[in-house]
Amino acid sequence: MVKGRDVIEVTALSEHLGGEITSIDARSIGRDTSLEAVKSLLFEHQLLCFRDQNLTPQEMLDFTRLFGEPDPHVLQQFALPGFPDIVVLSNIVENGRPLGNRKEGFGWHTDLTYMARPAAYTILYSLEVPPEGGETLFASMYKAYDTLGDDEKERMRPLKGRYSYLELYNKRDHAEPLTEEQRARTPDVSHPLVRIHPETGREGMYLNLDDCIGVDGGGETDGLALVSRLFSYTTENFEYRHRWRPHDLLIWDNRGALHTATPYDTERHRRLIYRTSVRGEVPIGWTEAVEPLSSN
Ligand code: SIN
Repeated sequence: MVKGRDVIEVTALSEHLGGEITSIDARSIGRDTSLEAVKSLLFEHQLLCFRDQNLTPQEMLDFTRLFGEPDPHVLQQFALPGFPDIVVLSNIVENGRPLGNRKEGFGWHTDLTYMARPAAYTILYSLEVPPEGGETLFASMYKAYDTLGDDEKERMRPLKGRYSYLELYNKRDHAEPLTEEQRARTPDVSHPLVRIHPETGREGMYLNLDDCIGVDGGGETDGLALVSRLFSYTTENFEYRHRWRPHDLLIWDNRGALHTATPYDTERHRRLIYRTSVRGEVPIGWTEAVEPLSSN
């Protein structure tokens, strides 16, 4: 029998977002556990944590592919050898070689807004985690958007944020400048500040700050100030702190959630996490959603 939504036990991880699942082997999804049931819980909770998983890199990729096409990271130097779609996040150095990127993920963001098709889902699988620190924080842009007044929602609907990978890269402490090839893969892009989810139809705020270089469509409105205010409002009021255990498999929907890594004592503790992401659709805003209707 295939396990459906009603038989998957989920415990809420916070009042804003996150659901914990302890009774499922993620390798059974799509076989003994219904993928549709898992996706429906993911849409409801925005983030799911499957505890006590035991995945090989290939099984992590198989899990990722259930949700769509994996998106290899621009910085391939941190990919797991033999697995260009898996990025390694780690402070561990073995035989003089860093196993992964130790700086990735700091600062609130939603993944890959600088791409034309930003990540729909991100998946993290923890192999080693520090006993303290190194948590990942999440915040719900949906919950924040739901509390805004109708006037503010109306004002935001036609606006588009402009995003630049170069801007983001230059803010980070990188030893090497971006190569021509990396630059060519990441031209500036625009995305609606109010995004409509392609599968649920849910409308929510969609913002990123670090790579935002402006907002189009707002006339005199100071777009960056608006993004900055809504960003702080979301992260200060709608947060969940994920305290990692080894073998947690986390998946979240970037279309409605922000996240950030947090520091830990990198001299004393080891952290090793694998990450994949799933390419999303070109974001749908109000303009895109009504255009096909009005052109009929
Ligand atoms: C990420 O932003 O994908 C990484 C988060 C973390 O390492 O806690």
